[in-house]
Amino acid sequence: MDLKSLIRDIPDFPKPGILFRDITTLLRDADGLRYTVDSLTEKFIAAGLKADYVVGMESRGFIIGAPLAYKLGAGFIPVRKPGKLPSSVHAVEYQLEYGMDRLEVHQDALQPGSPVLIVDDLLATGGTASATAKLVQQIGCQLVGFGFIIELRDLQGRKQLPDSVPVISLVEY
Ligand code: PRP
Ligand code: HPA
Repeated sequence: MDLKSLIRDIPDFPKPGILFRDITTLLRDADGLRYTVDSLTEKFIAAGLKADYVVGMESRGFIIGAPLAYKLGAGFIPVRKPGKLPSSVHAVEYQLEYGMDRLEVHQDALQPGSPVLIVDDLLATGGTASATAKLVQQIGCQLVGFGFIIELRDLQGRKQLPDSVPVISLVEY
């Protein structure tokens, strides 16, 4: 299936000069959504990547991460923006173009040694995925892989991710 034909390009969003790859048009297409979840599942299985948990980042990582966890027979763990999770959290701070951002996960969501996959809709600069990797590695989890629908190659996000961990993406720009 040609996933690119279902991903909409929006010029100058959210800022002038940015070409935004919009997955809402892919998500609303029943065949496209099923193919996306099935393909990521098959690629993880073919690569021998097994995990007890899929970790997905707010908010678009939830959309793809939860059905993937279901298909893989894993649990789903949300990594959220600050102040959203109700119980005690572990947090990681990371650099944005201007200023800092922070991601949080419940302290009792993951245990040291648990094998986890990190899943998001899109890899751009890699800031979000590398911060999430630090968070799960600080807890002592075994990070077995990353999965994305889209990878923006020019931004070289892969370079921010740990060398030894496989990265799977379905569509590259
Ligand atoms: C987008 C996207 C990734 C991240 C990728 O999320 O869903 O999580 O940016 O960019 P990076 O590789 O440069 O970190 P965004 O922060 O826009 O939040 P949203 O999912 O709530 O829209
Ligand atoms: N599309 C969607 N999300 C994004 C993009 C994009 O092109 N760049 C960074 N986050």
